[in-house]
Amino acid sequence: MQSGAGDAKVREIVAFTATYAAKHFALEESHMARVNCPVAIQNKQAHAQFLKRFGEIKAKVDAGGVTASVSIETMRELSTWITTHIKTIDTQLAKM
Ligand SMILES: [Fe+2]
Repeated sequence: MQSGAGDAKVREIVAFTATYAAKHFALEESHMARVNCPVAIQNKQAHAQFLKRFGEIKAKVDAGGVTASVSIETMRELSTWITTHIKTIDTQLAKM
């Protein structure tokens, strides 16, 4: 944002996340189901919520462009995802 690249970068992140997440989530959910992972349902629900939140962010970008508010929201969503979901839910698959 400070260098003026915030708009393009946020658009890139939102577009990448939408396509990558959908593919990755489907693969991860199939692996969890296959090994009867105890957090499989919780994982699937969290994925749906994440995709919904990013859909909302994308809609904001499409409607009003990349504002400072949207940039911060994007960063927070991704940071929270990494520090909560990946560390607590996704790592359960590695234990199977
Ligand atoms: Fe996950």
